Amino acid sequence: MNEDTLIRLHKYIADQGVASRRAAEAMIAAGRVTVNGRVVTEMGMKIDPGRDSVRVDGEPLGSRPRLRYILLHKPAGYICSAHDERGRRTVLDLLSGVNERVYPVGRLDYDTSGLLLLTNDGDLTHHLLHPSHQVEKTYLALVEKCPEQATLEHLRRGVKLSDGITAPAKARLLRRQTDGALVEISIHEGRNRQVKRMFEAVGCPVKHLKRIRLAFLDVKQLALGEWRELSLDEVNRLKQL
Ligand code: URA
Repeated sequence: MNEDTLIRLHKYIADQGVASRRAAEAMIAAGRVTVNGRVVTEMGMKIDPGRDSVRVDGEPLGSRPRLRYILLHKPAGYICSAHDERGRRTVLDLLSGVNERVYPVGRLDYDTSGLLLLTNDGDLTHHLLHPSHQVEKTYLALVEKCPEQATLEHLRRGVKLSDGITAPAKARLLRRQTDGALVEISIHEGRNRQVKRMFEAVGCPVKHLKRIRLAFLDVKQLALGEWRELSLDEVNRLKQL
């Protein structure tokens, strides 16, 4: 037996996305886990995922992909879909080491940078995108023309777009620049190109857009193009939003 391929049973169960390591230990202690058909209750047992058959409550592990929750700092110049007929780079090109098929939770435009969540947990995606729990998304918009107070107020109240008036938003001027301004805007909806269309509608076209926050998550610790796995605590908080 090759010691390198062995992994502790509770860690293997946790890695499969079934439960935290502590909860996996409790499952083992409760007699819910079998290895090669035999109930295992002792702690610390090591298994070989390539050879041993592990089941929790009778359901084989390894038969379903591990749930992945990826927080990516997307650079501009990447498309948020698996394939592009024009051959452009996709966000999946940035996820080296992720073997599961993950999907973006909502999209960022090709030329938008910032926080992008990707997962293969369809329930969480559905939960976060459902109109009744649309979570707050915050963007930094570099705009061509400095908005007046009345323009910011207009963005906050709601802007008439071709697909209806936008819901109340937060908007504040961060910095006036010689060639425009930097504005922070937070919205709850997720319509196509919504932020750019809102600024276009009030006469301040966006030169660059970056998503800096999604609910309590941000990408301050990640360089452009880097990603990290969400912690179990972060996943649980997202599920409760
Ligand atoms: N709004 C936009 O206009 N573009 C994005 O990429 C995200 C939000």
